[in-house]
Amino acid sequence: MSTENSIDKLRELRERALAPDDRRAIERQHDAGKLTARERVEILLDKGSFQELDPFVQHHATGFGIENRRPLGDAVITGWGAVDGRNVFIYAEDFTRFGGSLGEVVADKICKVMDLAMDTGTPIIGLKDSGGARIQEGVVALHGYGRIFERNVRASGVIPQISVIMGPCAGGAVYSPVLTDFIYQVESSSHLFITGPDVIKAVTGEDVTMEELGGAHAHASKSGITHFVAADDREALNEVRYLLSFLPQNNMEVPPFFTPLDAPDRMEEALTTLVPDSPNQPYDVIEVITNIVDEGEFYEVHAHWAGNIVVGFARLDGYAVGMVANQPAVLAGTLDIDASVKAARFVRFCDAFNIPLVTLVDVPGFLPGVDQEHDGIIRHGAKLLYAFSEATVPRITVIMRKAYGGAFLVMNSRAVRADLVFAWPTAQIAVMGADGAVNVIHRRELAAAEDPAALRAELVSDYEERFNNPYVAAENGLVDDVIEPKETRPRLIRALDMLRDKRESLPAKKHGNIPL
Ligand code: HXC
Repeated sequence: MSTENSIDKLRELRERALAPDDRRAIERQHDAGKLTARERVEILLDKGSFQELDPFVQHHATGFGIENRRPLGDAVITGWGAVDGRNVFIYAEDFTRFGGSLGEVVADKICKVMDLAMDTGTPIIGLKDSGGARIQEGVVALHGYGRIFERNVRASGVIPQISVIMGPCAGGAVYSPVLTDFIYQVESSSHLFITGPDVIKAVTGEDVTMEELGGAHAHASKSGITHFVAADDREALNEVRYLLSFLPQNNMEVPPFFTPLDAPDRMEEALTTLVPDSPNQPYDVIEVITNIVDEGEFYEVHAHWAGNIVVGFARLDGYAVGMVANQPAVLAGTLDIDASVKAARFVRFCDAFNIPLVTLVDVPGFLPGVDQEHDGIIRHGAKLLYAFSEATVPRITVIMRKAYGGAFLVMNSRAVRADLVFAWPTAQIAVMGADGAVNVIHRRELAAAEDPAALRAELVSDYEERFNNPYVAAENGLVDDVIEPKETRPRLIRALDMLRDKRESLPAKKHGNIPL
């Protein structure tokens, strides 16, 4: 064949690969409020940057009539492209072909981009919209999932992995997204579950809809599987682009620097009054965060789950930081099982990807309750303790108000090797709150007192004077300095600047044994 003819053939094949395979299926996709895989790729990546791989791949399966349909590229689009000029690998399951189901060659295509992402230290993003293992291919399809799961685990902590659930994702297939770092779900059109409503009905008799069982809000607010909810495909993809702006390409790099518009020495008077004096009065810690960070910009992770702790990304003087803050507006900011798990996972992500941690503390303790104890608050609370203790990124703590008991230690205290601990003058650092403490240590005097109420008030006031301040901790070097609330931003920025080249390594070991 002449060069000219062979180029013509290539062009014709390319056109065939790009041509819609099944127009009706595309219409159905649009009618369901979903974009096609190719449209999604175009939105996610910088214009014109997509470099497709394997557009000519075809399956070799036979039986059940599948041999009569062998679309070029099969049911997934793979390749790489840029997001704000930085490369990412992607795969987008194509629901318009075999319901996006995963057969052998689909798995091969996905594994190829995962391997390239690992070899080049590049993030990988999976756009999920699939009926699961390709039924016609049986165990070979299952094995394909297994190969992907193993790669998800191998890549964990090496390159950022992001999953966007944009359609069905059911059965064992769910184990790929959950092994990745962040999951987005699109409202109404995405469903994530191990066993669907019909099987549940047959086995347990429970009636549940797909949406109630595995919709975006179910997983964002109940199971905590989903980190971010988006109104539609476009919003989800734009949010992924935003998330990437806080992340490095891999675990050997640091996140990108953005020249801030916000002055590093900005004093913030609002912080003086934001936190109420009364220890039991709630406030919204997100307002504290936005007053401190660059341009008030905070990308909250897991915003709908375990609201008693707030985690997310922000920048200080242009550098990305991970914020972890108790939220007194929810459950008085106590640490419970979900809050501990949420924060522990975030801390470990930031540590793996060289993102310094800033912890804002206002915590009365762990949440009391029989359910909490029997569901394992001891084990789950230990996850957060473990995560902070082993984190080697720069870690700074600001104690704003309450820091009581074990929760004080867990929230990145000096004891677990915080690099710097600041306290506001309003900080109360103690084994427990004044009322509880007086009850324990003065029980006998109170029982014998003529006027127990008057004695209690006096004892509480003594205790508060002695312990409800940061100076005992400061006297013992457990707090490095007491700072005015308005100084928080400049002090954090200077501290992070000093810690920029921090080098700390853990003892050599295969891996630790975090209480799972
Ligand atoms: C082959 C599949 C398929 C699958 C869907 N299709 N799922 N083909 N293997 N797993 C095909 C359909 O036959 C149909 O083809 C097209 O995709 C669109 O499917 P519809 O059913 O018309 O779409 P919709 O009504 O939107 O329903 C979507 C769905 C449903 C809810 C996902 O298709 C469904 O229940 N599929 C089966 C899901 C399932 O049980 N998968 C196996 C899970 S187990 P045509 O040609 O008619 O357009 C699993 C294990 C992984 O995945 C284990 C890893 C350890």
